[in-house]
Amino acid sequence: KQVSVAVVGATGAVGSTMMAQLVKRKFPIKTIKFLASARSAGKSIEFNGATYTIEEATPEAFEGVDVALFSAGGSVSEKLAPEAAKRGAVVIDNTSHFRMAEGVPLVVPEVNRHALQQHKGIIANPNCSTIQMVAALAPIREKFGLTSVVVSTYQAVSGSGIAAIEELKSQSAEWDKGRDVSASVLPVKSDEKHFPIARNVIPQIDVFEDNGFTKEEMKMINETKKIMEMPHLAVAATCVRVPVVSGHSESVYIELEKEASKEEIFEALRLAPGIVLQDDITAQGYPMPIFAEGEEPVFVGRIRQDLHNKKGYHLWVVADNLLKGAALNSIQIAEAMLEDDLL
Ligand code: A2P
Repeated sequence: KQVSVAVVGATGAVGSTMMAQLVKRKFPIKTIKFLASARSAGKSIEFNGATYTIEEATPEAFEGVDVALFSAGGSVSEKLAPEAAKRGAVVIDNTSHFRMAEGVPLVVPEVNRHALQQHKGIIANPNCSTIQMVAALAPIREKFGLTSVVVSTYQAVSGSGIAAIEELKSQSAEWDKGRDVSASVLPVKSDEKHFPIARNVIPQIDVFEDNGFTKEEMKMINETKKIMEMPHLAVAATCVRVPVVSGHSESVYIELEKEASKEEIFEALRLAPGIVLQDDITAQGYPMPIFAEGEEPVFVGRIRQDLHNKKGYHLWVVADNLLKGAALNSIQIAEAMLEDDLL
């Protein structure tokens, strides 16, 4: 079966990665169109050796579209995803807008593919940091149960879009020339203050909520419970931006229901789809973003049993945030829907 595809936000960091994934994975495309803001409409875009014209994302642009891949920001999804769904398209949305909405499946196919069956036209792709963490935790939970998760993230700038990547690069060059470094994008474009990310780490991703956690931290907390279907799981997160272009890293501490040996945890991860166990400290073998960039799997290493709690384990989880964290997971959702006759 072939399907008609629309990519919304095609000129962005995630949108362009989605396009590359569609080609790489030989997604069965009948027709494809590329949508962005009015600023880009009329410009050319290359896809799979051919040239297309970018169109403005409007409600009418979704006529005849089977699957619409959205990554143009929450407000664009809010306005246009229902319009696309109304016209019969299945929306796979990369923004946070619909993730926690009742009736919207929030899916990592290796973890909760079955949730796709309940879709009503919009499916949400989870937050990048959440995806790689739940992919690593699900196979462990399966065998040993899970009672709590405490995560600290080391997130790459590409999660904040092309402007943030440019800012890291230009700030690095300014540093080298000994100039004062200016900042206008991170941590949050619309927030009052901006800080350099070159030679820095910023413990703020997205805006603060009243409870003192950032919105990104609350996304990790709430989305993890929803995807794993564990509303009572204890989850805490601290999300930090680091001067890495692509590849999010996470230090994750978990507590299991049952005791498990390190070898048993290794075995659960070895057998898990989409996971690569990279844990050989005798040869300094552990995941790092420079090696994860451009790669599809979620890499897990530095696995240690806690010294005070036999049911406690420490993990280090790394993945390409633009791939498994965004574009790849979205395309895998589309592939799963095709296979399950949902498209
Ligand atoms: P455009 O290039 O026309 O502004 P990133 O996350 O890398 O910053 O990318 C954001 C993506 O969302 C871009 O493709 C951008 O298109 C698109 N976009 C931003 N605002 C709108 C809008 N109002 N309507 C449609 N697409 C939008």
